[in-house]
Amino acid sequence: MSQAGGVDPLQTSGLTPLEQQYAGAVDGGALHEQELAEGTAGAPAAELSAATAGADILLEVNDLAVHFPIRRGVFVERTVGYVYAVDGVSLAVRRGETYGLVGESGCGKTTLGRGILRLVEPTAGSVLFDGENIAELKAEPLRRARRRMQMVFQDPLSSLDPRQSVQSILVEGMKAHGLADSTSATQTRLRELLSAVGLPTSALRKFPHEFSGGQRQRIGIARALTVNPDLIVADEPVSALDVSVQAQVINLLEDLQAELGLTYLVIAHDLAVVRHIADRVGVMYLGSLVEEATSTDLYADPLHPYSRALLSAVPVPDPVVEDTRERILLTGDLPSPANPPSGCRFHTRCPWRQPTRCDTERPALLELQPGHRVACHYATEIASGAITPVDRSATVFG
Ligand SMILES: Nc1ncnc2c1ncn2[C@@H]1O[C@H](COP(=O)(O)OP(=O)(O)OP(=O)(O)O)[C@@H](O)[C@H]1O
Ligand code: SF4
Ligand SMILES: [Mg+2]
Repeated sequence: MSQAGGVDPLQTSGLTPLEQQYAGAVDGGALHEQELAEGTAGAPAAELSAATAGADILLEVNDLAVHFPIRRGVFVERTVGYVYAVDGVSLAVRRGETYGLVGESGCGKTTLGRGILRLVEPTAGSVLFDGENIAELKAEPLRRARRRMQMVFQDPLSSLDPRQSVQSILVEGMKAHGLADSTSATQTRLRELLSAVGLPTSALRKFPHEFSGGQRQRIGIARALTVNPDLIVADEPVSALDVSVQAQVINLLEDLQAELGLTYLVIAHDLAVVRHIADRVGVMYLGSLVEEATSTDLYADPLHPYSRALLSAVPVPDPVVEDTRERILLTGDLPSPANPPSGCRFHTRCPWRQPTRCDTERPALLELQPGHRVACHYATEIASGAITPVDRSATVFG
């Protein structure tokens, strides 16, 4: 695959604020080429999960990387480093399942979703959709594959053209894929779609600003459904909505999945949303998956220190449990993805960090329990209590 050249390059003259934030990545280019050639840029090879072995897999992502070049120069543009937004992610999603992706802002969730759909060109790795390598598809086969993979965006208002009526928004996608053939068939289909997402037929003549946030997201979902997709990548589908409306949209997604056999990749920073909707969950940190398990296992028994910290911040409804449970406060910001820490990328914030391996050796995503993959050298010892938190800058209390 190509380098990520040509994809939303950063500004080209002088140092942009983003580049300044990424200071330290200068001269990363040569190393980057070498790293890619030697296969060391991404995470070490991940073990396959028992949860997907022999299963009917719709989406398989192998060691996917999306690196954005940081360019500088007034007259001659040169690449001074890379933003390692996604850096070696391997996962598989079964047909009909909902896979949730969680992690802090900036950890690469959206870029991973866009890389899977090839809305951004991956730097390395492969995406197999229903057995087909998306990277190798040329114009027409790629267009056909794209029909089967749709995206639902976070902000329904900005993702819907305000000058287009709902009818024209919905018909546009159908026309692009040759699915809007005769007027009466199209009208029937539009009515079916609106009914499926719980909107009246009268909505067709209206414009996006005439709807509430929840209704607009229903239009966004209807737009994704116009082309009969198999996979929907939903990027923060409810985070822009009022809490009271979030449950309705989540229920709608679940109903549509049951009715149409859809497969979902749901990206969300709200752990409660992911817990509710996802069958399995992947936790991302600085461009990599650090843990993956069924929703039940992850929330009951997180094994990676980062997941433990994330989950310990979620309030528990039972006041007795809430008062006594362990809480892990992480200090320090998420490091820059242009200059990620060596070894385990979490070592600069990990309360369980050890003097050996953590800062030198990048842990592979290994299956510690059936269907439960973790990227931590000491996950077993941490789980058994043989290793306790050592980092004084972080606090663990219960
Ligand atoms: N086109 C781009 N050019 C350069 N850097 C980019 C580009 N798109 C994303 N990035 C950077 O890649 C990293 C990952 O961004 P991404 O949007 O994928 O994160 P995210 O996990 O979706 O965050 P959020 O939860 O805030 O949506 C960030 O540091 C971001 O600034
Ligand atoms: S490998 Fe080390 S630094 Fe990384 S999560 Fe495990 S204990 Fe923490
Ligand atoms: Mg995002």
